[in-house]
Amino acid sequence: MYPLCLPRALTRILVPDLHLRQVSRTMKETGKQLPRVYVTRRIPPDGMAILKRSGLCAIEQWDSDDPVPRSELLKKVVGVQALYCLLTEKIDEEVLKAAGPSLKVVSTMSVGYDHLSLDELKKRGIRVGYTPDVLTEAVAELTVALLLATSRRLIEAVDEAKNGGWGTWKPLWMCGYGLTQSTVGILGLGRIGAAIAERLKPFGVKRFLYTDVAPRAELAAKIPAEFVSLDELAKQSDFIAVCCALTPETQGICGKNLFSKMKNSAVFINTSRGGVVNQDDLYQALVKGQIAAAGLDVTVPEPLPTNHPLFTLKNCIILPHIASATLETRNAMAALAADNLLAGLKGEAMPKEVPL
Ligand SMILES: NC(=O)c1ccc[n+]([C@@H]2O[C@H](COP(=O)([O-])OP(=O)(O)OC[C@H]3O[C@@H](n4cnc5c(N)ncnc54)[C@H](O)[C@@H]3O)[C@@H](O)[C@H]2O)c1
Repeated sequence: MYPLCLPRALTRILVPDLHLRQVSRTMKETGKQLPRVYVTRRIPPDGMAILKRSGLCAIEQWDSDDPVPRSELLKKVVGVQALYCLLTEKIDEEVLKAAGPSLKVVSTMSVGYDHLSLDELKKRGIRVGYTPDVLTEAVAELTVALLLATSRRLIEAVDEAKNGGWGTWKPLWMCGYGLTQSTVGILGLGRIGAAIAERLKPFGVKRFLYTDVAPRAELAAKIPAEFVSLDELAKQSDFIAVCCALTPETQGICGKNLFSKMKNSAVFINTSRGGVVNQDDLYQALVKGQIAAAGLDVTVPEPLPTNHPLFTLKNCIILPHIASATLETRNAMAALAADNLLAGLKGEAMPKEVPL
C-alpha cells in the first residue's frame, strides 16, 4: 500500500513527530511563540516531515483528503504567518483580509497559481512559493499517455472488447490517428510543453509547431519547433497539446474560433487548466465532427458532474486531474512547497518563488 493511503495513526509512526518536542523546547528556551502555519490538506509525508523537523513553526492542519471548507479556511487563517495551500483553495482578498497583516508567506503545492490573487498578495507584500520543474516529467508523461489513448481510441476499444462489440477483424474498425509523419502543435511552449515534445519525438513526428506570447527561440531550437500564430497552429496541426498557464488572456482561448480552424482529423489534448477551454464549444466541435477527438485531464468545474454532456461522447476521454499523480512527484511537490514556506518564514530566498 502507498504511504499516501496510510491511516493517519500509521503515518505518524512513519514520520516521527519531532515537531511537538521541538516546539515546546524552543518555546521554553526563548519564551517566544513560533510562527503559526496553516496547512489546508493532508499532504504527502515528505512535505509534512520537512515542516515538522524544522522546528520553525507551529503547524495546524486540515487533516483530510478532501478540501477544507471555505468557512473553516476563513477561520483558521486568522493570525497565521504562513499558509500552505493546494490548487483547490482560492486565495483571494477575502482570505487575505481574514488572515490579517501577520500573513507573510503563501506556498502552493502546484506549479499553476491561477487560484491565487497575485495582485492582492503583492499589495500586501506577501511572498508566494510554487512547485515548477519537479512535476514536469510526470505531467508530460501523462499527456503523452492521454494523447495516445485518445488518438488510438483505447478506452472505446477496451469497452468493445469487454462488452461483446468485438466481432471479426475488420479493416476499418476502431481506426484512429497515428503520430508518424504528423504535425504536433504545442499551445504554450514552457517546461511541460517542451517535455511533451521531447517525449513525442521518437514516435516519428514530422513537425513541431508552437505558439506562445513570444517566440521561445532557445527552447524551440532544441526540439526543434517552429513558432506560428494560434490560427496557423489550429490549421496545420494533427495533434494539439495545450500546456499554457491559465491567465485572463488564455481563459477560453480554445473555443469555437480555434476548433473551427482545426482539421476534422485533429486530436485535441488539454492537461493545463480547464478554464482555457470553452467546453460548450468543444462539445459542439466533437459532435459535429469538426475535430476527431479530445482528451482532457482538467475541466471546469472539477470534478466534472457525471451527467455532463462531454461524458456521453465516445471521442472524448476525461481524466480526473491526475497529470502529476506519481507518488515520487507528489512527494517532491510537497517537499518543495515546504522548503519554499520555510525559506519565506526565515526571510531567505525561496527555492521556487513566484516573481510578483
Ligand atoms: N494537469 C495537471 O495536473 C497539471 C500539472 C502541472 C501543471 N499544469 C498546468 O500546466 C501549466 C504549465 O506548466 P509549466 O510548468 O510548463 O509552466 P511554464 O510557465 O513553464 O509554461 C507555460 C507556458 O505558457 C505560455 N503562455 C502564457 N500565456 C500564453 C498565451 N496567452 N498564449 C500562449 N502561451 C502562453 C507561457 O509563456 C509559457 O511558455 C501550469 O500553469 C498549470 O496550469 C497542470
